[in-house]
Amino acid sequence: GQASKLRAILQSALDAIITIDSRGVITTVNPAAEKLFGYEQSAFLGRNVNFLMPEPYHREHDGYINNYLATGRRKIIGIGREVTGRRRDGSTFPMHLAVSEFQIDGERHFTGIIHDLSAHKATERALRQAQ
Ligand code: HEM
Repeated sequence: GQASKLRAILQSALDAIITIDSRGVITTVNPAAEKLFGYEQSAFLGRNVNFLMPEPYHREHDGYINNYLATGRRKIIGIGREVTGRRRDGSTFPMHLAVSEFQIDGERHFTGIIHDLSAHKATERALRQAQ
């Protein structure tokens, strides 16, 4: 059925996919996100998404969401942005973040799709140094 098809899509996606509620609390995470950030699914669920980012994002992320909820002004939703993520071991990496919004039972939720840019950046650096 549809539910198992959706599950298969999440399970097989190469990009990390994370959903949060309107308070930034993680409600879904896929295997690519586990691999990218170095945590197991159970360590994500129920936690604020801001544990996956370094300062100043970490401190400010609740405010970003609240600003959006209050004003409707989109800074990343439907636009995307290159930002910095933080792995379990504390190391940081460049990532492209795409955010979209959906509602379930009148509750607002967000989906984040994260593409790891670290290999791409390393290639860029190597090419520059070879010149
Ligand atoms: C907004 C950073 C992950 C949901 C933002 C903004 C930044 C940011 C810089 C815009 C601030 C502004 O200009 O006002 C990050 C970083 C992440 C991350 C560094 C690294 C893990 C996520 C994820 C989700 C998410 C995974 C959703 C599941 C949102 C929402 C907004 C937002 C809903 C407000 C809407 C908007 O600005 O369009 N985030 N974010 N973020 N982020 Fe994140």
